[in-house]
Amino acid sequence: MTMEGGEGVGKTTQMRMLERRIKAAGFEVFITREPGDTLLGTEIRRMVSEVKDESPCPEAELLLYLADRAEHVRKVIRPALKKGKLVLCDRFADSSEVYQGRARGLGAEKVRELNKWVCGDVWPDLTLFLDMDPGEGLTRASQRQGWLGLDRLEQEGVTFHQAVRKGFVEQAAADASRIKIVPAQGKAEEVAERIWTLVKPVLQKWKNSEA
Ligand code: TMP
Repeated sequence: MTMEGGEGVGKTTQMRMLERRIKAAGFEVFITREPGDTLLGTEIRRMVSEVKDESPCPEAELLLYLADRAEHVRKVIRPALKKGKLVLCDRFADSSEVYQGRARGLGAEKVRELNKWVCGDVWPDLTLFLDMDPGEGLTRASQRQGWLGLDRLEQEGVTFHQAVRKGFVEQAAADASRIKIVPAQGKAEEVAERIWTLVKPVLQKWKNSEA
């Protein structure tokens, strides 16, 4: 299961709230995120986040995220799945298809092909796209961290973030049975309730298939 969305939409808060609810429903849940959560991933997170005089070209940027994912799938996600855990990942393959494939213009299909090579059989059953107006999201992110505290991608102009949002909406339309759009405005508890309505039937399905 994965959670996706633009900047400042409240993914981290929702991940924690969902983790609690899934545990309370009797499932063993394992939380992770991209980029990060491996030694190489931590290095890559720093490389893609830091604001420097020169940014990587889109192709190099994509390959960094894919390198992180290859490592993450093999060293973290697959082992957790093998132990029977439900894996909840903060960003995954859809982020590359949307940020690099759609918003940076490398092509979502081309990125999907590379994602499939990198991920193999590890693919989310359900993806929650937390949707919010990018202006509002960026305001929330900069209120939390201050403008200078924002990372390289957060500091991209609002036009880029609008392209990201449009990209996620297109991504969801192209794979409507897996990717669900969750309106992310309003109180955290209200958003959590919207998420739970979508997650509950999936958990029930898993329970039934295990029985
Ligand atoms: P986050 O930890 O705040 O979600 O930040 C991760 C940033 O990396 C965010 O701006 C989205 C970006 N990103 C991509 O552009 N492509 C990817 O494949 C992933 C995983 C993240």
